[in-house]
Amino acid sequence: MKAFILLSLVALIHGSNAALLIKGPTEPVLEGQSVTIECRYANSEFNISEVQFQMLYKSSDRWHQIYGEYNFRRTWCYYSMRVMQTEDSLVLTIPYAGRYNSGPYRCVSSAENVTAPDNASEPLGFKVHYMAELSLSREGYRCLLGAPKELRVRQGDDVVLECSAASSEEPKYFWFKEGSDWILPSPKLTLKKVTASDQGQYTCSAEHSVQSLSKKRSISITVLPENAPWYQTSSGRLVLSTSLAAVALALFIITMTVFLCRRAKRARTSKGPIDDRSQKKPIYKSSVDSLPSTSGDKQPLV
Ligand SMILES: *[C@@H]1O[C@H](CO)[C@@H](O)[C@H](O)[C@H]1NC(C)=O
Ligand SMILES: *[C@@H]1O[C@H](CO)[C@@H](O)[C@H](O)[C@H]1NC(C)=O
Ligand SMILES: *[C@@H]1O[C@H](CO)[C@@H](O)[C@H](O)[C@H]1NC(C)=O
Repeated sequence: MKAFILLSLVALIHGSNAALLIKGPTEPVLEGQSVTIECRYANSEFNISEVQFQMLYKSSDRWHQIYGEYNFRRTWCYYSMRVMQTEDSLVLTIPYAGRYNSGPYRCVSSAENVTAPDNASEPLGFKVHYMAELSLSREGYRCLLGAPKELRVRQGDDVVLECSAASSEEPKYFWFKEGSDWILPSPKLTLKKVTASDQGQYTCSAEHSVQSLSKKRSISITVLPENAPWYQTSSGRLVLSTSLAAVALALFIITMTVFLCRRAKRARTSKGPIDDRSQKKPIYKSSVDSLPSTSGDKQPLV
């Protein structure tokens, strides 16, 4: 019995020594920052050259070996990593952490004298924080507020603005108006039947738990008289500019069609072969036919 306890104690100590330890970022990681993950044996007598990093591919729920210069692709972006071996550790470097670099990672040993459960480290994952620019949309007019910083509405109109951003976590949204003392804790700002007093500069603020990622975006609301012509409002202007673009496109197509028809007609009525040999005459550098830009070549070089 004593011998058995002693044996298991030895096994325990021995086992814990062969354990693989993994160490990663201890602070939140922001998109674009570099990340280093290190792996080593608790007992440095084991040879690190038989250890490799692995990353879990969530789509297939399988661990993939990572070695050398390693790239993978997610949604049109390439993610690169690099694995290097030092004397007693294996180091994985991610130069620019992206949202798909969050892992989990682990290291595994293929050495024969390292047995389960010591042949794999604990999995290590971390969150990569990010937040894109804020986008504002007006209810019922999607895409209306892509770029404009001003919204022109008629008195008596309803205005509902929604603020949003792609983010690693749902931010806290607030709306406030310059010169006013209210703060609306919501991504949605609703102004019913606007009057002249609603005119002003409104700001949406999105607060991320990582303070440096928080963002703001402002829009000024101009209230036009109730009888203002429709084309003076923002939605009217959008309709107007869209129709102008459509008219311009139509004009362009008509002009091109007429031009091409005329040219085809002329080609059909002309006598000579279409492949006019005079067009293939070589142009010599010193000839008068050469491009004017080469005229400088006539100057001696020395
Ligand atoms: C484990 O095995 C390797 C050979 O595969 C040997 O070089 C190493 O010394 C062994 N380590 C221990 C701690 O027994
Ligand atoms: C580890 O093993 C490799 C070959 O597998 C050998 O070249 C290297 O010298 C070994 N390192 C140590 C510290 O034993
Ligand atoms: C660890 O070893 C066990 C038994 O030898 C094996 O079944 C398992 O696949 C190994 N784990 C890894 C991550 O290689």
